Amino acid sequence: MNNKPSVEVCLSPQLLNLYDLQGKTVVVIDVLRATSTICTALYHGIEAVIPVSSIEKCIAYKDFADHILAAERDAETPFGFQYSNSPRDYMNESIKGKTLVLTTTNGTKLLHDVLSSDKILIGAFVNIDSLSNYLLEQTNDVILACASWRGRVNMEDSLFAGGVISRIKNKYNISCDSGRMMGDLYDSISSDLFSYHLKANHRERLINLGAAEDFEYCFKENAAPVVPILSEKKLINLLA
Ligand code: MLT
Repeated sequence: MNNKPSVEVCLSPQLLNLYDLQGKTVVVIDVLRATSTICTALYHGIEAVIPVSSIEKCIAYKDFADHILAAERDAETPFGFQYSNSPRDYMNESIKGKTLVLTTTNGTKLLHDVLSSDKILIGAFVNIDSLSNYLLEQTNDVILACASWRGRVNMEDSLFAGGVISRIKNKYNISCDSGRMMGDLYDSISSDLFSYHLKANHRERLINLGAAEDFEYCFKENAAPVVPILSEKKLINLLA
């Protein structure tokens, strides 16, 4: 047995009870779109993101100076919210220096489910190299946790986990078959990541909402090279 740290892939929050989070680094993954949006917001100048589990908790920040509130339920923006879960909402100057309070259906929910771990990071294709490089330097065991869609495995989160495995496999012991499968699958489709994902279930939901551009953007590897980490209930960019 070598002394490399281990990496596991949890394909759905429904399987999370099978994993021991104690002392581990957990990477929360929701490629479409929560974790892509968090990375994009931090990259374009949002100072911190406060992930909250409910609409009510989000609204509780309404009178806080320099805070902007964003919500998503079933891919739609609930009535009354100015900001959504679209990465495009955060690609402009007006958000610079602000704190984003965000609640989403699956992504921010999973983040609250893994609070007993040692460290929480955020992953998406838009930050895949910066995140993987950070993992290559740390010594904790890692769980790549997919938000999926209402507990059902999805291809974009699973394949992102595979992309990380592909990048860190020499430094880590891959200690589950889901990690091995997704690493191999990512390697076989990585030259055309976007075309492969045209089959993804969530694509249709986003197209119906007029968010086809979001879908395309979320597969742009390294478009938002940040490393978001949870610190005192806020996600901040470790590279800032
Ligand atoms: C979620 O957290 O469920 C999502 O990011 C859904 C979306 O807005 O596309």
